[in-house]
Amino acid sequence: MDKVRIGVLASGRGSNLQAIIDAINAGTITAQLAVVISNKVNAYALERARRHGIADIFLDPASVADQPNPREAYDRKIFEVLKSYQVELVLLAGYMRIVTPILIQAYPWRIMNIHPSLLPAFPGLQAQKQALDWGVKITGCTVHFVTEGVDEGPIIVQAAVPVVEGDTVETLSERILAHEHQIYPLAVQWYVEGRLRIEGRCVRITQKP
Ligand code: GRF
Repeated sequence: MDKVRIGVLASGRGSNLQAIIDAINAGTITAQLAVVISNKVNAYALERARRHGIADIFLDPASVADQPNPREAYDRKIFEVLKSYQVELVLLAGYMRIVTPILIQAYPWRIMNIHPSLLPAFPGLQAQKQALDWGVKITGCTVHFVTEGVDEGPIIVQAAVPVVEGDTVETLSERILAHEHQIYPLAVQWYVEGRLRIEGRCVRITQKP
């Protein structure tokens, strides 16, 4: 059977991308990484893709800036690339743009995101800082399907991470990141095994076939 083909959208250092690459190489994700796309020319995620012989594509948002709806025009370009690489599952990994309905409708329930909080707490930017400022004792990370509301889609898997005395945004982010690198590959493999069933806004994980 053909392997599921994955496309990753990333804007930055790409440590979650690396976790996916490592899991594929280790055989814990039985899929193929077809392409990595970035909106940032210098994103280290692109370098990671190159090092592993994975197609890396920089799509310049400025190239569509003069279009009537630049965000949608940009997502149409992304879709063209994903289609040309026959991507089935799209992973956002530190992707700092809001995905428009163009992409969401092209990939229904086939776009995942990782977020550094226990959603629905602390959506949006600087989730770790939000958690520290609120004074929560436990935060974490969430893998969810992407829908039109930012960080609102059905939750696939979460990991809880304690906040400890003296934590800074950096120390807390690092502790959360280690868990991100575990749960993202897990969610992807569940998808690959066809084990994710969406019921309303809940994701059920079915038994391994
Ligand atoms: C992670 O904390 C992720 O949860 C958030 O952005 C960060 C990306 O880190 N969406 P990296 O680029 O995967 O290292």
